[in-house]
Amino acid sequence: MSTGTMKKSHSQWSSRMGFMLAAAGSAVGLGNIWKFPYMAGQMGGSAFVLTYLLFMFMIGLPILVLEWLIGRRGQKNPIHTMEDVAVAEGHSKSWRWVGIIGVLGSFLILSFYSVIGGWATDYIFLAAQGTFEGVNGEVTGQIFTDFLGNVNHLLTWHTVFMFATAFIVALGVGAGLERACKVMMPGLGILLLILVGYAAYVSGPSFGQAFRFLFTPDFSAIGGTAMLAALGHAFFSLSLGMGIMMAYGSYLGKDVNLLSTARTVVIMDVIVAMLSGLAIFPLVFANGLEPGSGPGLIFVTLPIAFGNMAGGTILGVLFFIFLTFAALTSSISLLEPTVELLEEKTRMGRKTATTVSSLFIWALGIACILAFNEWADIKLFNKNIFDLLDYLTSKIMLPITGLGTVIFGAWMMKQDLIRKELNLGPFWFSIWTLLTRFIIPVAIVIILVFGLIQ
Ligand code: TRP
Repeated sequence: MSTGTMKKSHSQWSSRMGFMLAAAGSAVGLGNIWKFPYMAGQMGGSAFVLTYLLFMFMIGLPILVLEWLIGRRGQKNPIHTMEDVAVAEGHSKSWRWVGIIGVLGSFLILSFYSVIGGWATDYIFLAAQGTFEGVNGEVTGQIFTDFLGNVNHLLTWHTVFMFATAFIVALGVGAGLERACKVMMPGLGILLLILVGYAAYVSGPSFGQAFRFLFTPDFSAIGGTAMLAALGHAFFSLSLGMGIMMAYGSYLGKDVNLLSTARTVVIMDVIVAMLSGLAIFPLVFANGLEPGSGPGLIFVTLPIAFGNMAGGTILGVLFFIFLTFAALTSSISLLEPTVELLEEKTRMGRKTATTVSSLFIWALGIACILAFNEWADIKLFNKNIFDLLDYLTSKIMLPITGLGTVIFGAWMMKQDLIRKELNLGPFWFSIWTLLTRFIIPVAIVIILVFGLIQ
């Protein structure tokens, strides 16, 4: 732990539990609750879900372990960690590019993430005011459309969300990030269980329908696009490929077992995504709504359900609080790599570094807001600014830095040390080697190429 007398020493998590909750807090976010259900809905449900599960354990988990391992070796921000570890292993400094794309990516992701976080926060108040009572699909659609058209309104909530994020990050690793997750994560678990229980209770047979929709294997629906989406989402959902987990690893003590911690984080992340699906789809089916309606799914369809059921107002408020909490524990992680970089490489203190990075991200967020209204017609490759940022980060930058990380970890680092650090016997280590040296890199390249040309 950092002490007042040793100012120069790098800060650290206070305990394994604190680290695990912070990592899980980063992983569990809008990706699980907002993005996963609508992607599953658009891509035929179970086929996407099962591919995603496979990628989470076979590709996500090993890369998560590698990011922590590299971060713990380097003890610095992702760029200089990559550079130092590469040089220490006798390789070129150019490996820092993995870190550079990572930090840049987290910066870009946060700019649109904060906008959606702002929607979630605003919907708490909309739900509490009873806006959704007795509404039908036309009305919620109209509310959402008006909402997207109102620049000042979106800007206000984006600002509130970004401010909350910066406030927590400015407090530091232990007092900010870790403490926020220790408070919010258990609350999140409880809220989610209440929501699933309620959905099962009010929707009757639709619960079974939702269950089948999510879990009945149907591999005919799986093509290159869905595979790339599932891969990109596995990265997004575990906060991989953006230097985040590397930065989190840099605050980690030597005594923490990486494999078992990673397993717990992946399982928590998967459970939250599945339970979110089971909280959302029964309501969608019970109300005859459209599962494939896209990014608006939880903002347009769910309010109809909340508006027409007993206790729906309270449930709606709880749901959007849950969504906001989950988004906040992730957005703080998205801000951390940039802040860590500025803190270490400039004369700025933590507070100034946080303020400066947040201001730039906030400004880029404004471009995303305008993409929903005034700039909706400005398109590149047929995508508006918001879609473009999402596509560029999730489908291109995350897989590429993930690929860089795994190639570095499996081919450039001394494997013997890794085996000792992970405490693996010969059998499991050969599985690890097979996965990290061959299966994962080849799978990422194939999926990337096929997904992009489709
Ligand atoms: N994992 C978070 C989610 O599921 C989002 C997130 C946080 C993220 N940090 C990240 C995504 C880093 C990619 C990279 O909502």
